[in-house]
Amino acid sequence: MIGESIAVSFEPCPTPASVLADAGMMEQVVMNLCVNARDAMPQGGMLRLALAQVTLDGAVLSGHPQSRAGQFIRLEVSDTGCGMDAGTLARLFEPFFTTKGVGQGTGLGLATTHSIVAQHEGWIEVTSEAGRGATFRVWLPQHDAEPVQAATALDDGARGGAAVVLLVEDEEAVRGSTARGLRRMGYEVVEAGDGVEALGVWEREAGRVDLLLTDMVMPAGLNGVELSRRLREQRADLPVVIASGYMAEDRTLPESVTFLSKPFTLAQLGAAVRGALGTTGQGPDEREARRG
Ligand SMILES: Nc1ncnc2c1ncn2[C@@H]1O[C@H](COP(=O)(O)OP(=O)(O)O)[C@@H](O)[C@H]1O
Ligand SMILES: [Mg+2]
Repeated sequence: MIGESIAVSFEPCPTPASVLADAGMMEQVVMNLCVNARDAMPQGGMLRLALAQVTLDGAVLSGHPQSRAGQFIRLEVSDTGCGMDAGTLARLFEPFFTTKGVGQGTGLGLATTHSIVAQHEGWIEVTSEAGRGATFRVWLPQHDAEPVQAATALDDGARGGAAVVLLVEDEEAVRGSTARGLRRMGYEVVEAGDGVEALGVWEREAGRVDLLLTDMVMPAGLNGVELSRRLREQRADLPVVIASGYMAEDRTLPESVTFLSKPFTLAQLGAAVRGALGTTGQGPDEREARRG
């Protein structure tokens, strides 16, 4: 995507370190910053990505309003491109702000990037001068736990009895990242792409499902509310979480359903699932809930 006239360098963290983040969203952040860098260097140049583990204490805050003491992972994306003047710097995170021609820029790349980073409790700093390139620094809180593989989480006897979540979502990317998040929290996840498919999975799992997490609006003529009614005919006390981009005040929402508004963070997802299950410890990683 970057093209042959741009030299790309990457400096990873010297020691492995983790953030608690949605992998797909992080990819989007990196992609948006790299595409902007490319656009700023039509004659070629250098694109540098660097990761570092940085401790901020009261004395060494970065000056950004969100900056605070703690351990952070900093991603730097710098280019040697056209840079920005003060007028552009003041507006670049605004939705639809673009200096690119019609059909070339949407002005949504940095607005999206900003909101993703904020959802992950981080912040972004930018330094640039007209004609002198630009550096974007994305700060994300470090996550102390070791990365957990889904398979080992399930095999680990200490986590025995992890709840089984039936996840129903028609958008594959959303389903994939939600399933990954749940598995990382220690849940077992069975997936379906729509309501009708979910009925099949429910049959197949024969009573193993502990919770239904479903999208509201789905194709194939069975939406989240109808699906939860059908499953509750068979198990009246089935915990249900319905995710939707629309408002929670929807009057068709049945009793005792947890509403999760989209898009959601991993912390919000974990809290909704735990809340619906009525557990505090079953979704193994409690830290996530507190961060929400
Ligand atoms: N690396 C960069 N170098 C110079 N200008 C940039 C850079 N990144 C972003 N900008 C400026 O910020 C504006 C907004 O960026 P963005 O939100 O990604 O929208 P778009 O790329 O669609 O214009 C760009 O139009 C450009 O003026
Ligand atoms: Mg862009």
